[in-house]
Parts: sequence; C-alpha cells; structure tokens
Amino acid sequence: MNNEVNYGVIPCAGKGTRFLPITKGIAKEMLNIIDRPTIDYIVDELIDSGIKNIVFVISLNKDEIKKYYSEDKELINDLIKNHKEEYVKSIKNLSTKANFHYVIQYEQLGLGHAVLQAKDIIKNNNFVVCCGDDITLYKGKSPISELIEAFKLTNSTIVGGQKVSHDKINKYGAMDILNEVNEGLFKLKGIVEKPSLETAPSDFASLGKWVFKPNIFEELEHTPKGKGNEIQLTDAIASLIKKEDVYFKTFTGKRYDCGDKLGFLEAIIDVALSRDDLKDDFYKLIKSKI
Ligand code: UTP
Repeated sequence: MNNEVNYGVIPCAGKGTRFLPITKGIAKEMLNIIDRPTIDYIVDELIDSGIKNIVFVISLNKDEIKKYYSEDKELINDLIKNHKEEYVKSIKNLSTKANFHYVIQYEQLGLGHAVLQAKDIIKNNNFVVCCGDDITLYKGKSPISELIEAFKLTNSTIVGGQKVSHDKINKYGAMDILNEVNEGLFKLKGIVEKPSLETAPSDFASLGKWVFKPNIFEELEHTPKGKGNEIQLTDAIASLIKKEDVYFKTFTGKRYDCGDKLGFLEAIIDVALSRDDLKDDFYKLIKSKI
C-alpha cells in the first residue's frame, strides 16, 4: 500500500462564534498573530513536513484566505517603486510556496462534514488534517512529521495529540487506550468526543492534527450528527476503530488553541518572544506592564 503523505487539509469554514463580533467580518483563521494570519503558521508547518498540496475548506464568505494566497503583482510593483523591498520579500512567495486548493462547505455541519468536502480533491491519497485555528510552535522536527512517521510505521490512521490536565479533557476528543506500542504511540480501543470529567477514558486529548487514509471518507459519509448536532470527525474515527487499527501519537511542541481568546493571546505573546526582531523590546514592554 502507498504510504506517502502529500496532501494537507485545513478546515476553516467554522462559524467562529467564540470570536464574535470580529468573526462577523473576518474568518478567525485570518486573525493575525503579529503580521501573519493564524492559518499561515499551519501552512508553514505542513510545508516543513514535506506537504506540497494544501486544501482549504472555506465557507462561502471566506474569500480573504484565497486572496491572501494569491499573487498580487500590483502590490509588489508598488512596493518596488517606493523602495520598500524588505516588504516584497514577505509576500513574494506566498502564492507559490505550495499548491493551494479551495473547496466550499456550504453549510456548517461540523468538522467531520468539513473534511468530507475535500474528498474529490484528495481522491485516493493519504492526507493530514490540521484544524485552522490550532497552531503549534516547535523547534527541530515538526509535530506533523512525527505523525507522518507514525503513519508510515503502522500503516494506519493516526490521531495526534498530547496529555492535558484532567480538568480540561472535557473540551477534547479523549483516547481510550489499548496499549502503548512504542514511545508515545498508542493503539486505540476507542475515542470519545468531549467526555464528562467522570467518564473520560484517559487524559490523552486529540489536538487538531490527524493523518488519514482515504477510507475515512466512507466513514464520514455514514456518520450521523452527534455532539452539538454536528458531524463529528471523532465519531467517524470511533467507527473506523471498530474495523481496523487506529493509533494515537503524542507530538512535541507547544500547541495553542487560537479559537479561544486566551489561547490566541498566549500564541501572540510566545511568537513575539521568539522573534529576533521583537523579543527584546517586547520583553521590556511586558515587564513594564506587570
Ligand atoms: P471549531 O469548533 O473550533 O470552530 O472547529 P467553530 O465552529 O468556528 O468555533 P466556534 O465554537 O463557533 O467558536 C475547529 C476547526 O474546524 C473548522 C473551523 O473553522 C476550525 O478551524 N470547522 C468547524 C469547519 O471548517 N466547518 C464546520 O462546520 C465546523
């Protein structure tokens, strides 16, 4: 079986309710972490992991994502004319750094339904899914590469995540683990979307990154609406676990939920503190405020 992974899918068609009112006019995936949209950090992690084909699942009114990754010759010429070459560098490669595809999710029926919309583009390929509002900062090997390695090792679907504190597990898909087969690699018995703290099978949480084979589409096509009246990706994975081996892999790096206000603020602070052009002055600024 072909175990290459060359496609990435980024669902960004959600309603962004937790970020209203700004999401009335702007997709939350386009909200900026300093001078780049959230989604661009995910795109760069995919590229850093060897993924060259990226599919955005967008809603009808999210054209700004398409615009961001399009070539803008007029802007480039204008910057050159005005001797602002340093800015040209930051936008020149945006449209060519990967092959970008767009597919529309007309109705916001959930994350599972959003992934299903990519079926005709993905066809018979394996693919990574990354939530459009989840970024991970890392040094060295990318978290997605760690998941792809686990996929190649097991030839099976991989759910990526980390252990979270017990009081937070009710916000995520929780792993029901059969056994640990390798360091940080667990065979799954089940997976439960947003369990109660009392019934959570473990504190290992699914954190917005997966590697799938195309057979996930068959599961998604037969997945009824679940929690929140949405077609849940977790439910499709739970159904797959009954038929074949599925694994959970812990990834390294610090993950931020940018769909949540505090998570988003923390991402901005940590990115600022990691950038050579900003860290010293930003550190002084933060210190002066505390
Ligand atoms: P979330 O549940 O965090 O997104 O989905 P949301 O629905 O926009 O959030 P709130 O609760 O209303 O604030 C995780 C990812 O899945 C995408 C979102 O855009 C986000 O990147 N998603 C979710 C879709 O593409 N379509 C959907 O129908 C739901």
